[in-house]
Amino acid sequence: MVVEEAERCCVVLVPSPFQGHITPMLQLAFVLYAKGFSIVINHPELNPPDSSKHPEFTFLPLKDGMSNSDPSFLNLFDIIPERNMNGRVPFHDYLVEMMEKPEIYGRISCIVYDHLMYLTTEVADHLKLPTILLRVSSCAYMEAACTFFQLKADNYFPMPESQLLIQCQKYLPSAIIWNTIENLENQALSWFQQHDRVPIFTIGPLHKITSSLHMSLAEQDTSCISWIDTQAPNSVLYVSLGSIVVMDKEEFVETAWGLFNSNQLFLWVVRPSATEHDLPIEAVGDRGHIVKWAPQKEVLAHPAVGGFWSHCCWNSTLESILEGVPMICRPCFGDQNVNAILDSCMEGRP
Ligand code: UDX
Repeated sequence: MVVEEAERCCVVLVPSPFQGHITPMLQLAFVLYAKGFSIVINHPELNPPDSSKHPEFTFLPLKDGMSNSDPSFLNLFDIIPERNMNGRVPFHDYLVEMMEKPEIYGRISCIVYDHLMYLTTEVADHLKLPTILLRVSSCAYMEAACTFFQLKADNYFPMPESQLLIQCQKYLPSAIIWNTIENLENQALSWFQQHDRVPIFTIGPLHKITSSLHMSLAEQDTSCISWIDTQAPNSVLYVSLGSIVVMDKEEFVETAWGLFNSNQLFLWVVRPSATEHDLPIEAVGDRGHIVKWAPQKEVLAHPAVGGFWSHCCWNSTLESILEGVPMICRPCFGDQNVNAILDSCMEGRP
């Protein structure tokens, strides 16, 4: 059914400024758009999505006074509280304007937000608008985190207050949407269904539902596909640590020589922020191909790619599992450690 623009109800989406968070939010936006909703993205000024690639949506930058720069140079625990503090008034004003002009935006049905953008519930509550939380990490990680915070609350071990501020923020959504694979996370999902007082819906993995869409914030270097095309099946190791992780110099150089000495073909994503450490170019040799940012989903789906050395963030983990590519796990922080364990339980997957 084709829905006329004027008949559409509106969903406002509030992503946080990280590739791994913006991607599933935009993917969900497409699912909702296809169901007949008009879409407003209240996006960060830091690391904004390219609005010209998504003309179906209305993009409104959340003016939080933070300049645009590579998020790998920023301390997550510093910028998130600041963004939430600075963004409250502009977000409130946007919503009021939208509510006053339903003929332009449609009537607001609800606001879908990322848990790092906890300003949303406070403002929405004030305006009596319902909110839905989109979870962009694994259910298993959140179960582990909840258990961890219970141990903290019971005084088993200390934790810096700044981290508590982000992780323990109170949310009052009408529902939670989880981007996951139900069969993979049955146990953790039922734990949440028992403990959370709101309905939990699983969707996903979103990248499969919206497989033809490109959500990359950085430009993808497609030259690597021609290089992989020339390689034998299952012969290439794909190495990428996502959009935020930065190796220190020692690990970076060790990784380069480790790849070289493995005699393995490899495609390695070295983001510009990582090249402050000089890449020992002789270690790349003729077995390696290096790009600043790869078309990852295409790479993982390529028959020549036989393994993925990954930081195990949730999007990368889901993308790898769905393509049946075994992972070498190099988790660094947050959800990555739990995802790595989850991945190691996946032997014999399709
Ligand atoms: C970040 C944090 O590291 C993580 O802890 C948090 O939970 C989510 O945000 P990120 O590093 O962005 O995660 O990794 P991931 O969740 O795997 O998302 C990266 C996305 O970028 C994937 O969809 C992947 O396909 C894409 N990508 C990655 C590319 O398109 N090209 C690349 O070269 C690398």
